[in-house]
Amino acid sequence: MGLSRLLRVSNRSFLAFIFFFSMSTTGLYFIYVAPGIANTYFFMVQAQGIMLRDNVRTIGQMIRLYTNKNSTLNGTDYPDGSNSSEYMSQPTAYLPENFTYAQNLPCPERLPSMKGPMDVNMTQIPMEEIDLKFSKYLDVHFGGHWRPKDCKPRWKVAILIPFRNRYEHLPILFQHLTPMLQRQRLQFAYYVIEQSGTQPFNRAMLFNVGFLEAMKDLDWDCLVFHDVDHIPENDRNYYGCGQMPRHFAAKLDKYMYLLPYSEFFGGVSGLTVEQFRKINGFPNAFWGWGGEDDDLWNRVHYAGLNITRPEGEMGKYKSIPHHHRGEVQFLGRYKLLRYSKERQHLDGLNNLNYTPEISLSSLYKNITVDLHPDLAPIADY
Ligand SMILES: *[C@@H]1O[C@H](CO)[C@@H](O)[C@H](O)[C@H]1NC(C)=O
Ligand SMILES: *[C@@H]1O[C@H](CO)[C@@H](O)[C@H](O)[C@H]1NC(C)=O
Ligand SMILES: *[C@@H]1O[C@H](CO)[C@@H](O)[C@H](O)[C@H]1NC(C)=O
Ligand SMILES: *[C@@H]1O[C@H](CO)[C@@H](O)[C@H](O)[C@H]1NC(C)=O
Ligand SMILES: *[C@@H]1O[C@H](CO)[C@@H](O)[C@H](O)[C@H]1NC(C)=O
Ligand SMILES: *[C@@H]1O[C@H](CO)[C@@H](O)[C@H](O)[C@H]1NC(C)=O
Ligand SMILES: *[C@@H]1O[C@H](CO)[C@@H](O)[C@H](O)[C@H]1NC(C)=O
Repeated sequence: MGLSRLLRVSNRSFLAFIFFFSMSTTGLYFIYVAPGIANTYFFMVQAQGIMLRDNVRTIGQMIRLYTNKNSTLNGTDYPDGSNSSEYMSQPTAYLPENFTYAQNLPCPERLPSMKGPMDVNMTQIPMEEIDLKFSKYLDVHFGGHWRPKDCKPRWKVAILIPFRNRYEHLPILFQHLTPMLQRQRLQFAYYVIEQSGTQPFNRAMLFNVGFLEAMKDLDWDCLVFHDVDHIPENDRNYYGCGQMPRHFAAKLDKYMYLLPYSEFFGGVSGLTVEQFRKINGFPNAFWGWGGEDDDLWNRVHYAGLNITRPEGEMGKYKSIPHHHRGEVQFLGRYKLLRYSKERQHLDGLNNLNYTPEISLSSLYKNITVDLHPDLAPIADY
């Protein structure tokens, strides 16, 4: 079967192709070295049967990468296939070192303090050390709040971090993120939304809770949805929002710095409050890991929005290595994703009840909730 023929075949045949691909030695090797990507692919194919051509191309590139160590890909072009990052693609000019700030003017987006690549240090560090460093030397206020003094912050950003049992990750994230956000002259605060109880982890519902609680504190205008184990590697990855939802984590080290598929929206993403309300927030129905970020992409898409991504090196992230501690996959996601559109206005910010337990630490607000499916009732989809 020629390649051109392959590209024209139906989704069903593509499934068969994936199946046989997975049985081949290369496929097995691929699954062995990159279970995350392989899983993601099979899932996408099963769920939606989409983007055949692009994915064939991407899979081809992946295989080349994994089977041939000296890759032909340069770090700068991820196999995207779409023009999603179009409006961000103007040439980047950063202000000179001698730029002078003015208190009554908005902070520029491309500041001389943003140098580019950052060293990532994954060594565990006690929270007390980070607390001390930031409250004493970096002027971060109790609760993790900070704002620039030499210019007017362009965005007020609530950083929402869903959390369960990853205490050693938090200080590593704060250690890297705080100086970066300060160099970007953004106003920000951290919200750690912790799931108690015994239900499977519900990342999406935690984000909804975090959003509703954060909005009680301040009229935030930009929300960053941040996994606790994703550390940005470049401080030019600007954590402000835009006319379109933003996918910050475009290149993850665990995916060999490639975008796994063009609809990938996981890890770290950002929406304005207006955009987030428009799409009715995250779905509440995803219990266990996987799928909720794809559902969010669908929501954004159905709302007539596109997503943008940082260019080239700017979108790089390192993940803190860890073992999945009994976290379960959400197998029902395939079915749910098929009804993204129908569920969008039934399940999200508008059907959510919860009772939070709130406390303040020096670097963040701790919002602890015990989640249960009854808290977000929805007809059977
Ligand atoms: C890999 O590197 C070797 C030597 O550096 C080179 O001869 C070979 O052409 C490269 N292969 C590819 C596919 O780039
Ligand atoms: C890769 O990048 C180098 C310099 O950064 C450039 O000279 C080369 O042409 C690029 N290769 C490809 C295939 O884009
Ligand atoms: C991306 O945009 C450029 C110019 O805006 C256009 O020439 C190109 O065809 C677009 N590519 C895709 C895949 O849409
Ligand atoms: C700032 O530096 C640039 C060169 O980097 C120079 O052209 C400019 O005159 C300087 N401006 C001031 C106000 O010193
Ligand atoms: C990483 O952080 C640890 C703990 O703060 C420190 O001891 C170590 O020197 C750091 N490593 C590098 C390469 O900076
Ligand atoms: C989103 O992208 C599609 C295709 O690239 C384009 O047709 C559409 O106009 C874009 N939507 C907005 C709101 O920019
Ligand atoms: C958040 O608060 C709860 C008690 O309400 C506590 O058990 C938990 O350890 C705290 N989590 C973090 C990350 O501080």
